[in-house]
Amino acid sequence: MSAPLKNDTFIRALLKQPVDRTPVWIMRQAGRYLPEYKEVRAQAGDFMSLCRSAELACEVTMQPLRRFDLDAAILFSDILTIPDAMGLGLHFEAGEGPKFSNPIKSAADVKALPIPDPNDELQYVMNAVSLIRKTLDGKVPLIGFSGSPWTLASYMVEGGGTKDFGKVKGMMFSDPTSMHLMLDKTAQSVTSYLNAQIEAGAQAVMVFDTWGGVLSHEKYKEFSLQYMQQIVDGLKRTHDGQTIPVTLFTKNGGQWLGDMADTGCDGLGVDWTTDLSRAKELTKGKVALQGNLDPSVLYADDDTIKAEVKKVLTSFGDGPGHVFNLGHGIHQHINPDRVKTLVDAVHAG
Ligand code: CP3
Repeated sequence: MSAPLKNDTFIRALLKQPVDRTPVWIMRQAGRYLPEYKEVRAQAGDFMSLCRSAELACEVTMQPLRRFDLDAAILFSDILTIPDAMGLGLHFEAGEGPKFSNPIKSAADVKALPIPDPNDELQYVMNAVSLIRKTLDGKVPLIGFSGSPWTLASYMVEGGGTKDFGKVKGMMFSDPTSMHLMLDKTAQSVTSYLNAQIEAGAQAVMVFDTWGGVLSHEKYKEFSLQYMQQIVDGLKRTHDGQTIPVTLFTKNGGQWLGDMADTGCDGLGVDWTTDLSRAKELTKGKVALQGNLDPSVLYADDDTIKAEVKKVLTSFGDGPGHVFNLGHGIHQHINPDRVKTLVDAVHAG
């Protein structure tokens, strides 16, 4: 038996149970805005070596928890570990973000794509999860995560980041059968990967659909939401006698919050373009909401940050089911002292 949670406000909020203060964590809370992260990153040499070392991944996961009164830890890894394990050859070029040496170019490439075994090619992630969980010793819950099939497919076809999504949308329109096969294989991979993270000790899981918001209404449902539904249906929802909440996050997906709530997930991430009061109306009390401060507020002074935090808390209003977060990841040039102001302001209410 693992240590009982000393602070379970994050889990309780996702399950819409009452809490005595709003829990808060920050997307990309471990990262380059922290000088201690940059030190470990330099020591590791490259980003994937950092992810592959359970000790170093655990160390950087713990760093933000030492500085701030956060209510959850998130596994330090990346969403692109799955395509890497499929053989696409992930590497990070300085200042350019992620790149794949072997992107998906044809129907034959899609057919040949393997579904990785999470306890083989991705065992290093499970090792990090187990070590982080042990190190946390029940301080706060550990979040596991993955990318959504559509978001992973975008990187797999584009071979890296993109502005226009020309290649991946080109494949979606010209060869929808191959696109569906790739998304189905990816959804199967994500499901078994997240279930393995849950078995290794993740106490909640989140699916990042960073690029679902570039699709039309019709295509979002067919090419992104459908595969997140497949994942929600296939996940273990309890482990070790505890409920494992599942959160979905489509950036720029405000108009689909109602459809997303109908998947049967527990929580939805909301970016700053949708007011939380509107998100509540759209989701009709079916799910908890996570968000949604504009990350750029952290460039402002302490008084502005406190006022903007208050506005987010007020827009959610009364009742359980709010996890405070940014509407997307923290930027790398933010001063960590501003993050402390934010976290303490959320807890002050
Ligand atoms: O939140 C956390 O603290 C956990 C760690 C985490 C990372 N990436 C670490 C990381 C998480 C949850 C992610 C998710 C991720 N990765 C997403 C989805 C969330 C989102 O932001 O929308 C996406 C799209 C990726 C893909 C990815 N990985 C990109 C585009 C980059 C480059 C980012 C950049 O600004 O250069 C990465 C690399 C990466 N992943 C870094 C970190 C801390 C920076 C790498 C470095 O240290 O050089």
